[in-house]
Amino acid sequence: MSERPPAPAIAEIIAARLSRRSVLRGAAAAAAMATLPAGARAATASDPSSLTFAQAEHAIGVDHKVAPGYRAEVLIRWGDALRSGAAAFDPRTLNAAEQETRFGYNNDFLAFMPLPVGSLSSDHGLLCANFEYTNAELMFPGLDIKTKTQKLTREQVDVELAAHGHGIVEIRRTGGQWQVVADSPFNRRISALSTEIRLSGPAAGHDRLKTKADPTGTRVIGTLNNCAGGVTPWGTVLIAEENVDTYFGGDPNKTAEAANYARMGVKGKSRYAWSRFHDRFDVEKEPNEFNRFGWLVEIDPYDPTFTPVKRTALGRFKHEAGTVALTPDNRVVVYSGDDQAFEYLYRFVSTGRYDPRDRRANLGLLDQGTLSVARFDADGTLTWLPLVFGRGPLTAANGFASQADVVIEARRAADLLGATPMDRPEDVEASPATGKVYMALTNNAKRPADKLHPANPRAENRHGHILELAPPGAGKAGRARHDADRFTWNVLLLAGRAEDGARYHPQTAQFGKPLSCPDNVTFDNRGRLWISTDQGSAQARNNLPDGMYACDLEGKGRALPKFFYGVPKDAEMCGPCFTPDGTTLFVAVQHPGEDSVFDAPSTRWPDFDDRMPPRPSVVAITKADGGPVGT
Ligand code: FEO
Ligand code: CA
Ligand code: CA
Ligand code: CA
Repeated sequence: MSERPPAPAIAEIIAARLSRRSVLRGAAAAAAMATLPAGARAATASDPSSLTFAQAEHAIGVDHKVAPGYRAEVLIRWGDALRSGAAAFDPRTLNAAEQETRFGYNNDFLAFMPLPVGSLSSDHGLLCANFEYTNAELMFPGLDIKTKTQKLTREQVDVELAAHGHGIVEIRRTGGQWQVVADSPFNRRISALSTEIRLSGPAAGHDRLKTKADPTGTRVIGTLNNCAGGVTPWGTVLIAEENVDTYFGGDPNKTAEAANYARMGVKGKSRYAWSRFHDRFDVEKEPNEFNRFGWLVEIDPYDPTFTPVKRTALGRFKHEAGTVALTPDNRVVVYSGDDQAFEYLYRFVSTGRYDPRDRRANLGLLDQGTLSVARFDADGTLTWLPLVFGRGPLTAANGFASQADVVIEARRAADLLGATPMDRPEDVEASPATGKVYMALTNNAKRPADKLHPANPRAENRHGHILELAPPGAGKAGRARHDADRFTWNVLLLAGRAEDGARYHPQTAQFGKPLSCPDNVTFDNRGRLWISTDQGSAQARNNLPDGMYACDLEGKGRALPKFFYGVPKDAEMCGPCFTPDGTTLFVAVQHPGEDSVFDAPSTRWPDFDDRMPPRPSVVAITKADGGPVGT
C-alpha cells in the first residue's frame, strides 16, 4: 500500500488553524454580497474597522508620511546632545567621548515611562530608547560596506561602541509640542564602550562567564544589539540583546566554546572592526566574552545611578524582545522570541510575586523562576517545555552540568526538548485588554515545502505572519493564566499580497492595505494591535512600504490592517509606544538610507541638509485636533 501523500493532510490542518472567525465571516459576507446587483454592492459596503483614520499614502519615498489629520514630528535624532551648551552635531569630527553624551544610533525599542514614577502622566516622562547597531558607512565619510572593516580607525570604532546601548531622556509636552528637557538629571547614556553592567541569576559568576578583565564573571562592559524590549509593572525596562554574534572576530574553532559559538551563529568573520582594536571581541584572545552577551537586561530609568543587570535566568539566545504579563496571582511572565529562521519562542515565569507596594523587592523577581520553550502542535495547542537542569535530556550526559549551562546554551537545550522551529519569532506581547498573546513572525524564506508546519504554513515565507496564542482564562483582562502548561493558538493573519497566499479580513483590499514582515507590536487603549514592519533590503522588491499598520483584534474588523505611518526609504519601523492616554504614538525610524553610504545616501531624512547624512530618529505622532491616535 502506498503511503498517503503528506501535502493534503498538512493543507487541511493549516486551513483548520487559520482564524475560524474571520474566515467564516468572510465567506458569509462574500455570499451576501454576491446576491446584490453591482451598484448596490458599492452603496452597501461599509468599512468594518473601528480604526477611523484615513490611511497614509501606501508608497515608498525619501520622506516619512503619516495619515491625514495627524502630525509626525521628529523629537530626537542620532547625535542630538543630552546636555545644553554642546557644539552643533558634525559627524565628521565626532569622537567617542562626545558620542557618549549624545543620542545613539539606530534607535529601536521605545518606552515612555511617566513622571512621576507610578503616575499615568501623558505629557511628562522619560523616553527610553535602545540603540541596536551601527552603520559606519552612513555615519562617517569615505567608507563603503565591503571594505569598511579594514578602513575604520580606532576612534571611529569607539564612536560605534559609544553609539550602541540605550538612552534615557526626560521629555515634556508643552502647548502640544514634545521637547527634550536638556540637563535633566535623568538624562543618561548606557553604552557598549564604558557602562558597567551586572550579571545576576544562575549563570552569574560561572567559569564560562569569567574573563581576564572580570575574573568574577559578574561584571561586563556594555550591552549590544539591543533590539526591542518591554516594561515591568514596577517601572523598569527590559532590553533585549539580539544579534550579538556579529561583533566577534577570530576563529571560534580554536576555542573550547566552538559548538556554542556555532549554535549562536559566530563564524569568525565579523561585519564590525571591533576585534582589531579590542581583544575582548576576538574569540581567540577572550573566548568567554561572548557568553556575557545575548541576555535580557533590566534598567531602572528612574534611578540614574542604577547599575543595569543582565538577568541570566531568562536564558541566552538572540532575544528580539522581553515583554511582561502578570498571572492572576501576580507572578511575572516574560515572553521572548529568538529572532532567527527556525528558532523558538521562550517564556519565563517568576517564582516570587509582584508586590505593588514594594518597588525595591520587585527588582529581584527576574532572578528566580522557570524558563520554558514552546512546542506548537497541529491540534491547535501549545505546550511549554521547561528548561530545567536535571529534567529530561538536560543532564550531564548531554553536557549540562548545572542550570548555568542550560541558560548559557538555551538554544541547544531547547533543541533537545523538541521545541518547534518558527519563522523568525520577533515581538511577542500580551494584550492588556484580553490576555491573548500576539506573536509576530517576520519571515523565513528558507522554509522548504517539505518542512511546513501548521503554525508556519508557507514555504519560502517572505512576508511573515502573526499568531494569536490564548492562555486558559484569556478573554477577560487579568484572568489569563500566562503560567499554564498549555495554551491554544490560531493564525491571526498571513502577511503579503493576495498572490503571496496572504490571509487577512476579506475586505482588506477595499478598506485596508497589505503589509509585509510584521516585527514589533503594541496595543492602544481600545485593545487594537499596532504592527511595525521590517522587510530589510526586500522592501523595494516587495514594493510595500515599511511603517505602522493597525488592526482590530475583536469584532467585525478583525485582521483588517490599515496603513498609518510610512518610514523614509531604506528604513525600518521600530519602537511603537503610546502615552498612557493614547494621544501620542512614539515610533523609532531605524537605519534610514541603509545599503547606501554617507557620501551618496538614498535619503537625507530628516534634515534634508546636503552636509548631513540620514539620521535615525524618534518621531512623535499626534492627532492635529488632539484626542487618541487611531480613533
Ligand atoms: Fe532587531 Fe529582530 O530585529
Ligand atoms: Ca526590528
Ligand atoms: Ca526585524
Ligand atoms: Ca512591543
